[in-house]
Amino acid sequence: MKGAAPVGAGNEREAAAWVRGMFGRVAPRYDLANHLLSLNIDRSWRARTVRRVQPVLDRPGSRALDICCGTGDLLLALKSAGKGTVLGSDFCHPMLVEANRKIARQRTAAPVFESDALQLPLRDGSLDLLTVAFGFRNLANYAAGLAEIRRVLRPGGMAAILEFSTPPNAAFAALYHFYSRRILPWIGGALSGNRDAYTYLPESVRKFPAAKELAEDMRQAGFREVEFQYFTGGIVALHTGKRKE
Ligand SMILES: C[S@@+](CC[C@H](N)C(=O)[O-])C[C@H]1O[C@@H](n2cnc3c(N)ncnc32)[C@H](O)[C@@H]1O
Repeated sequence: MKGAAPVGAGNEREAAAWVRGMFGRVAPRYDLANHLLSLNIDRSWRARTVRRVQPVLDRPGSRALDICCGTGDLLLALKSAGKGTVLGSDFCHPMLVEANRKIARQRTAAPVFESDALQLPLRDGSLDLLTVAFGFRNLANYAAGLAEIRRVLRPGGMAAILEFSTPPNAAFAALYHFYSRRILPWIGGALSGNRDAYTYLPESVRKFPAAKELAEDMRQAGFREVEFQYFTGGIVALHTGKRKE
C-alpha cells in the first residue's frame, strides 16, 4: 500500500500540498462537475453508503465523523438519516466553505473542522462510525490513513470507505478507462476550469488498490468483518469493517 502520488510530487508532504491546492481550485464548481460527470449517480452511491451504516446511525448518542468531507454531501446525508452527532473534516479550506454554505441552507447542525485525515484531533476510540467518500484515494499514505481511522474508532466501531475502483468485468473496465482517461479530462476541465484535476483523477484511480486488495489491507490494519460491495458495475466500491478490540 502506498498513497496518492500526483505527478511532480517528490514526497508525501508535497503530494498532500498538491491535492489540497487542486481541491481548493475546483471547490466552487466541484458539485456541478461531480453531478454532471457521474450523471447524478454519485448521489445514489452516497445514499447506499448511508443505508449500509444506518444501524450505527440509529444507535442513540452515536458519534460519526465524515473525513475528507469536501462540500459535505455525505455528511449531510448521514446527518439527515440519524439523530446522533455527525461531524465533518477536510484539510481544504475552500471545500469547507462550500460545505458550510450547504449546512446553513439546510438549517442543520453538522459541525465541520479543518484537519488532515492522517492526524485527526480526536481522542483514541472516540467514534462509533467513520466514513470517507472519494477521499481515501487522495491520502498521501494509505497505511497511515487506515491506522488513523482505526485509532479514532472505538473497538467495534465501523469504518466505511466509498471509493472509485476497477470494474471486475474486463470489457466494462476497458470502456470505463477509455471514458475516464480520454473524455473525462476534457469535460471535467471545461466544467471545473481545471484540467489538472480531471487528469489526476483517472491516474489516481488506476494506481489505487483493487477492491480485494484494499479489503486485505483493512484486515492487516486491524479491522474485522471486512466486506466490500461494488456499485455501478465496479466503478465504485464500498468497503466496510469494524475495529478489532
Ligand atoms: C473527491 S473530494 C470528495 C469530497 C466528498 N467526500 C464527496 O463525496 O464529494 C476529496 C476530498 O478529500 C480531501 N482530502 C484529500 N486528502 C486529504 C487529507 N489528507 N486530509 C483531509 N482531507 C483530504 C480533499 O480536500 C477533498 O475535499
